[in-house]
Amino acid sequence: MKRSLSGSLLALLLGPASERRLVRYWLGERAAAWIGNCWVAEDLKAWQGDREFLEAYRRFEPRNMRSAERKFTVRELVRSLADVPGDTAECGVYRGATSYFICRERPHGTHHLFDSFQGLSPPLACDLPDQPRVDSWRAGDLAIPLDEVRANLAEFPGVRFHPGWIPDRFPEVADRRFCFVHIDVDLYQPTLDSLRFFYERSVPRGILVCDDYGYLNCPGAKRACDEFARSIAEPLIHLPTGQAVIFKR
Ligand SMILES: C[S@@+](CC[C@H](N)C(=O)[O-])C[C@H]1O[C@@H](n2cnc3c(N)ncnc32)[C@H](O)[C@@H]1O
Repeated sequence: MKRSLSGSLLALLLGPASERRLVRYWLGERAAAWIGNCWVAEDLKAWQGDREFLEAYRRFEPRNMRSAERKFTVRELVRSLADVPGDTAECGVYRGATSYFICRERPHGTHHLFDSFQGLSPPLACDLPDQPRVDSWRAGDLAIPLDEVRANLAEFPGVRFHPGWIPDRFPEVADRRFCFVHIDVDLYQPTLDSLRFFYERSVPRGILVCDDYGYLNCPGAKRACDEFARSIAEPLIHLPTGQAVIFKR
């Protein structure tokens, strides 16, 4: 519906509740587009009122909702695997927020964490965005001390830390099988190494998620996923959250 600013303000003051809601949404959308070329997520979605999820999310992100859709997607995917055996893993852990959601769904399972805890490894040429106004990653970005992550996940007895550069510590889990793996290292080489290692150790019905696939600041991660997807039988599914998902048959 086409709206003028004055018509919108009038509706905001005098319109029925449903109209006021639509106008508030429209004004927020316009303001976000004007201030930061940003999109506002559609409202009236049930998950936005999921108190249990929001409480857990705000433990890690009290001030922004930017990654809420991705965390919710992970929670739902892991929840769908209740009857599927196997360990879970995350490559690229940062403060442990996504691992926290994985562990909440499988509190008695074994969850493996792989991270340098020294931030990103040096980006390659293919990791540099070719778009102006998109920042590049630098080695050492996103470093979080291991002790902080240990504290964030202390309530889960099945958590196993494998600190180091990917893939150096992968051999420690070479004999394990996985039902869910979250890959979130932003760069080409560790994304490719993680896909190669964990795909062949995934159980039937297992799920691999690459968090960075659709992000313009992570062209190397997309390239690694596309290269890898060409070598397997299953399709790679690009979600509007920016994640890519592979369901192992
Ligand atoms: C975007 S953060 C992960 C965010 C986390 N998955 C979450 O959902 O909150 C990227 C992480 O990848 C780790 N990382 C990047 N390159 C790595 C490499 N080559 N080896 C090990 N860890 C790496 C960084 O230390 C950082 O913690």
